[in-house]
Amino acid sequence: MSSTTRAHQLPVHLVAAAVIVAWACCGFRSSEAQLQVGYYNYTCPGAESLIETIVHAAVRKDAGNGPGLIRLFFHDCFVRGCDASVLLDDPTGTPGNATVEKTAPPNFPSLRGFAVINRAKRVVERRCPRTVSCADIVAFAARDAARIMGGIRFAMPSGRLDGRVSSASEAIANLPPASFNLTQLVARFASKNLTAADVVTLSGAHSIGRSHCSSFSGRLYPQLDPAMNATLGAALRGRCPAATGRRDRVVDLDFKTPLQLDNQYYRNVQTHEVVFTSDQSLVDRNDTAALVALYAANRKLWSQQFAAAMVKMGSIEVLTGPPGEVRLKCNKVN
Ligand code: HEM
Ligand SMILES: *[C@@H]1O[C@H](CO)[C@@H](O)[C@H](O)[C@H]1NC(C)=O
Ligand SMILES: *[C@@H]1O[C@H](CO)[C@@H](O)[C@H](O)[C@H]1NC(C)=O
Ligand SMILES: *[C@@H]1O[C@H](CO)[C@@H](O)[C@H](O)[C@H]1NC(C)=O
Ligand SMILES: *[C@@H]1O[C@H](CO)[C@@H](O)[C@H](O)[C@H]1NC(C)=O
Ligand SMILES: *[C@@H]1O[C@H](CO)[C@@H](O)[C@H](O)[C@H]1NC(C)=O
Ligand SMILES: *[C@@H]1O[C@H](CO)[C@@H](O)[C@H](O)[C@H]1NC(C)=O
Repeated sequence: MSSTTRAHQLPVHLVAAAVIVAWACCGFRSSEAQLQVGYYNYTCPGAESLIETIVHAAVRKDAGNGPGLIRLFFHDCFVRGCDASVLLDDPTGTPGNATVEKTAPPNFPSLRGFAVINRAKRVVERRCPRTVSCADIVAFAARDAARIMGGIRFAMPSGRLDGRVSSASEAIANLPPASFNLTQLVARFASKNLTAADVVTLSGAHSIGRSHCSSFSGRLYPQLDPAMNATLGAALRGRCPAATGRRDRVVDLDFKTPLQLDNQYYRNVQTHEVVFTSDQSLVDRNDTAALVALYAANRKLWSQQFAAAMVKMGSIEVLTGPPGEVRLKCNKVN
């Protein structure tokens, strides 16, 4: 039997899956080549395992550190590239001076995991002074969190340097809000050389972690968004009162398996049980909806694509030369 004949006998859904996977896997840009797996093999051989140990302890102590660290990596990479700009404090040290990324509304007060990065930096700095960048620590920590929360193992290339600039307005301009529709998400990701498939694949990170009510209350009031499952809508209204009051409460992004970084998120998208407009919009185009269906049915496939997309996100606008530096403290330029 010829291979052509055999191919014709493959179940149609498998052929369709193969086509979609090929489409989902996209070429890497040249900047990728500057980073290397095992960049610290000789200069700080223990770095990656030291960081892993610290991340593991931190997640055991507070599981919220897992999603926190994965989101921290995303928010670092989307603003001025993966350069640890998200970690910088206001140089004037003025409390409430919203000039740096971490104080901008998309990050404050929701972004978490800073203390874990600082602890990892302290320990690594003691072992190998002035060697391992904060940007690489953020990337390693996100990778480790994906292993701890989802059993997703992958090598994270490194060799990033830390930037010297952090701007709140750049965070506002570059981080996508939860109210974005698919067209807007795809355009925003395209500005980072990421594809529509990457939007779908990386949104699966919303399989863990939480959101403040304020991030999606527009879908609850004055009317329930008809694109939201009415049962979930009622539950969220109970949890998130219309009168916002003093306290901005939090809800799980994936209320079915909140502590597992898995493909349940994609099933929730299919049953309209997701919190953000951006999440629900993934089924608004046939090609992205097909990928949602594929991931909903195949955890392993999603895990592999997620790992690849995290590596790709980790190569956005990386600094590998001047003015990049290896910071001594992650919250301050040298
Ligand atoms: C596609 C566009 C995206 C939008 C519009 C978006 C928006 C949001 C919002 C509004 C929150 C809740 C913040 C809060 O109120 O507490 C959130 C949480 C989160 N996001 Fe995204 N996100 C997107 C993509 C991503 C990506 C690419 C990743 C990582 C690969 C990611 C990882 C997370 C995680 C893990 C959380 C939970 C954080 C925690 O529990 O501390 N998101 N996202
Ligand atoms: C570091 O070591 C690992 C494991 O042996 C190897 O895969 C990787 O290519 C090495 N990287 C460098 C830059 O030497
Ligand atoms: C906030 O920071 C900017 C830039 O560093 C500085 O020029 C400004 O004076 C600061 N504002 C306050 C209120 O401290
Ligand atoms: C997405 O939002 C933009 C900006 O509000 C709007 O112009 C566009 O029509 C929307 N697209 C879809 C498909 O809803
Ligand atoms: C996207 O790719 C183009 C062409 O290779 C490059 O000039 C641009 O800097 C890249 N943008 C980002 C954000 O990586
Ligand atoms: C709403 O959620 C329930 C419970 O998961 C599910 O059975 C139902 O199909 C969902 N409704 C829609 C319209 O997706
Ligand atoms: C999308 O799928 C729907 C339903 O299967 C079909 O009617 C429509 O023609 C498709 N649209 C495109 C652009 O392929």
